[in-house]
Amino acid sequence: MSTPAPFDFVVTGATVVSHDDRRQQDIAVRDGRIAAVGEQLATDGVRTVDATGLLLLPGLVDMHVHLREPGMTEKEDFASGTRAAAAGGVTTVVDMPNTKPPVATAERFRQKLDLVRDKAYVDFGLYGMLDHDNDAEIAGMAELGAMGFKLFMGQTTGDNRCPNDAAIFRGLEAAAAADLVVGVHAENDHLLRMFGDRLRASGRKDPRAHLEGRPAFVEVEAVTRIVTMATEAGTKLHIHHLSTAVGLQRVLDLRAQGHQVTIETLVAHLFLDDEAYATHGNLIKLNPPIRPAGDVEALWAGIARGDVDIIATDHAPHTAAEQAEQDVWKAYGGFIGVETMLPLLLTAAAAGKLTVEDIVRLCSYQPARRWKMADKGRIAAGFDADFVLVDPTAASVLDAATLHSKHNVSPYHGWPLEGAVLATYLRGQLIFEKGDVIGAPAGRQVVPVRAPHVIAQ
Ligand code: DOR
Ligand code: ZN
Repeated sequence: MSTPAPFDFVVTGATVVSHDDRRQQDIAVRDGRIAAVGEQLATDGVRTVDATGLLLLPGLVDMHVHLREPGMTEKEDFASGTRAAAAGGVTTVVDMPNTKPPVATAERFRQKLDLVRDKAYVDFGLYGMLDHDNDAEIAGMAELGAMGFKLFMGQTTGDNRCPNDAAIFRGLEAAAAADLVVGVHAENDHLLRMFGDRLRASGRKDPRAHLEGRPAFVEVEAVTRIVTMATEAGTKLHIHHLSTAVGLQRVLDLRAQGHQVTIETLVAHLFLDDEAYATHGNLIKLNPPIRPAGDVEALWAGIARGDVDIIATDHAPHTAAEQAEQDVWKAYGGFIGVETMLPLLLTAAAAGKLTVEDIVRLCSYQPARRWKMADKGRIAAGFDADFVLVDPTAASVLDAATLHSKHNVSPYHGWPLEGAVLATYLRGQLIFEKGDVIGAPAGRQVVPVRAPHVIAQ
């Protein structure tokens, strides 16, 4: 380097982990961005952060959270949910539109932005909903910076009437015209309702009935149908929370035929199997459900082969009382997870199930690329200075009481961990350190590169 740059600060001595390698390097930060990555960047008078012995990862991008605004803030809100994200090393979240009311029009999208923009402790993107009759609203939501559109093919929390195939196709066309990704909850709604009715009629109320009511082929059918339609419409397609071995195999078959689709697996589907119903009951009710061990193994194998593009959380908070509901039909699907994703994945990395590079690729680099977040997902000059300092050897036991969500009920309580998030930086600001979220909410809306208008902050 020629003349030393006037950096705001330099992080020294860390092992910087990217999506494909790791190196001991300094990183220099200026005006919220990474100004340089290299050797010996610290110069006289510049503040340094000594990170010797630690890993430095790009902040995680969790593509799948439900922060419940508007309308369900008794479960979570943007402040509590993004504090949890900061504590988990997640510096960008993408929030889902199945709120009360759902975010299915440009007007509602604008209202949601106004509602949440000053409350976020990390950066956030917003999905719009692809509803049963809102194809005319897609362009307007895109103009407001929608990251993409969520299509619920199968029922889940909220008033999301699952569109019929004609409505789906019109929505896919509108999303293609806006050049935005459609993210799908791929389960066949008619079949879900029919199996659910049968089980209810038979008197079943136990947690496992939920798994039996959502068999794997229901996912396979929806995956096949949506991939077929999205290819025809020319839409970028992402399948959220793919959960079964046969669903994954169907995606591989479709890809072999030339269809393009990215897939996501959830932390919950990687770390829990159906034995957990006996211990946790309806706390682990999830749509799609927690599956038998064979499915879990298949998803891990998909990760090892590189067939899975993204890991996300589906952070889906409910109140502690709701999580304790005994009747499976009254219980809600989903539970918190944004704060526990990185510790759990680091623990899996310590056990050799994946590498820390894989974690960066699946949880930061790939989501940023897929949704065209130009400034996210990499530790390189010009990118936002979003990063996490991790102690890969720190041993602890997960204590749900320390989690930052409104209702800190977690099936991972008591689990041994290897690897801890020590500090999180958002655009150069320290927002979490040693257990505490720091400072005022400074999160901003993230918009995809292709969006016609960037919303002023
Ligand atoms: O279990 C789930 N809960 N699955 C979803 O797809 C949505 C989520 C929620 O919003 O509660
Ligand atoms: Zn979800």
